[in-house]
Amino acid sequence: MNVILISPGFPHQIPYFTMGLARVGAKVYGVGDQPIQALDEGVRRALSGYLQVKNLWDEEATTDEIHAWVRGKSIDRVECLWEPGVVLAGRVREALDVPGLTAEQSIPLRDKVAMKNVIEAAGLRTPKHARATTAKECRAAAEAIGYPAIIKPIAGAGSADTYELRSPQDLENALKILQHVPEVSIEEFIEGEEHTFDTVCANGEILFENVGWYRPKPLVARLNEWISPQTVCLRDIEAPELQPGRVLGREVIRALGFRDGFTHMEWFRTPKGEAVFGEIGGRPPGGQMVHGMNYTTDADLFVGWAEALVKGRISQDLRKKYNACLVFKRAQGNGQRVVRYDGLDRVLNEIGPHLAHMELTPLGAPKKDWRQVVQGDGWIVVRHPELRRMLELSDRVASDLTLVAG
Ligand SMILES: Nc1ncnc2c1ncn2[C@@H]1O[C@H](COP(=O)(O)OP(=O)(O)OP(=O)(O)O)[C@@H](O)[C@H]1O
Ligand SMILES: [Mg+2]
Repeated sequence: MNVILISPGFPHQIPYFTMGLARVGAKVYGVGDQPIQALDEGVRRALSGYLQVKNLWDEEATTDEIHAWVRGKSIDRVECLWEPGVVLAGRVREALDVPGLTAEQSIPLRDKVAMKNVIEAAGLRTPKHARATTAKECRAAAEAIGYPAIIKPIAGAGSADTYELRSPQDLENALKILQHVPEVSIEEFIEGEEHTFDTVCANGEILFENVGWYRPKPLVARLNEWISPQTVCLRDIEAPELQPGRVLGREVIRALGFRDGFTHMEWFRTPKGEAVFGEIGGRPPGGQMVHGMNYTTDADLFVGWAEALVKGRISQDLRKKYNACLVFKRAQGNGQRVVRYDGLDRVLNEIGPHLAHMELTPLGAPKKDWRQVVQGDGWIVVRHPELRRMLELSDRVASDLTLVAG
C-alpha cells in the first residue's frame, strides 16, 4: 500500500506513526516543510520518498506540488496526524482521487463551530454556543446563553485565551485581555468531570477505544502553575458512569462520517451523569496520551494505527491490564534553569515498581514554558491495575516530587 503522510517528522509523536507504517509494510511518501536532514534517522529510513514543500499551509500550492510529484504512482491513502493538516489531507485526497474524508468533510474536525453544528444536527448534546467577532456580539451572546459561560478562541488549542465567565463583569475583563483574538466562541459552561473518548477506526468501525480522565479539568490546570496535571487512561471502560460518554462518542463518529484512523474527543460528565460533547479531532491525542494507552495494554498503538489503516485490523492483544496515569511536572521557582529535584529519591523508593516511565528536564537545563508544552518539565507514567491505588500513587508523584528552578 502506498501512503502519503503529511508531516511525517513533526510534531514529536508523529515519527512513531511513520515508523509504524513502514513496520506493517506500507510504502510511506512523506510531505513536509522540514528539510530531509531535519528528520530523525528512523523516520528517514521509514520513508520511501520525501517531498519538501515551500509552504505546507499554502494548501493549493502544496496540493499541486504533491500532484506533480506522485504522477504515475498509484496512491492508496493520504494521511495527516497533525491537526492543522487534516483539511489539507482531505484536499490532497480529492486531487488524487484517493478514498477517505474530503476537505469539506474534514472541516468539522477543525472548526469548532462547524463541528458543533454537525453534532447538534445529529441530535446530540453540546453546550449552547455562539460565534462572535465584536465586543457587542460577545455581550449579546453571553446574555442569550446566560451565566456561567465560557469564552474561547474559535481556533484554539491548549486552553489558551479561554476564560470562565461567572458574571457580566468577568466578560468585560475577558474582553480586555482578548483583543488580539479575531473570533471567539461563547458557550454555556458545563460543570463536571472532563473526559476523553479516543478511538482507532477502520472502515467506520471502532477497533480500539480509550476513555481518559483529566485531573483536574484542563482549564484549571492551565490557570494554576503549581498544579501537576494528570491524564488517566482508564482500565475499566465498562464502568457505568462512562457509558453515556462512550455512546455519545460512537454517535459523534457516525455523525461526522469518520472512517479511518485516530479520533480524540473530549466530553463532560455532569454531576447528574449526563455526557455533553466538548470537541473532537480526527487525529491522535497529544500530551503523550498514545503512550498512556500503550501502558494500559502493553500494546503499541502507533503500529496498531498503521495496521488498522493498511490492513483494516489490529492483530495485537488490546486488553487493558492497567490504569495508566500521565503526570506532568512544572518546575517551581523563579529561576530559568532546573537546579534540583526535591523528593525524587522518596518517590523512587516508595513507588518505583509502579512507575512505568519518567522523563524530567535535566538538571542545569532551561525550564520549559508550561503554557506552551503540555508535558512541562517532565512526564511520568504511573500504572496499577486498581484505579483507587493508581490515583493515590499518582497524587504522590504530583505532590511529593518538586522540580526546582533556580
Ligand atoms: N462549554 C464549556 N464548559 C466548561 N468548560 C469548558 C467549556 N469549553 C471549554 N472548557 C474548558 O476549557 C478547556 C479548553 O477548551 P477546548 O477543549 O474547547 O479548547 P482547546 O483550547 O482546543 O483545548 P485543547 O487543549 O484540547 O486543544 C476545556 O478542556 C475545558 O476545561
Ligand atoms: Mg480541548
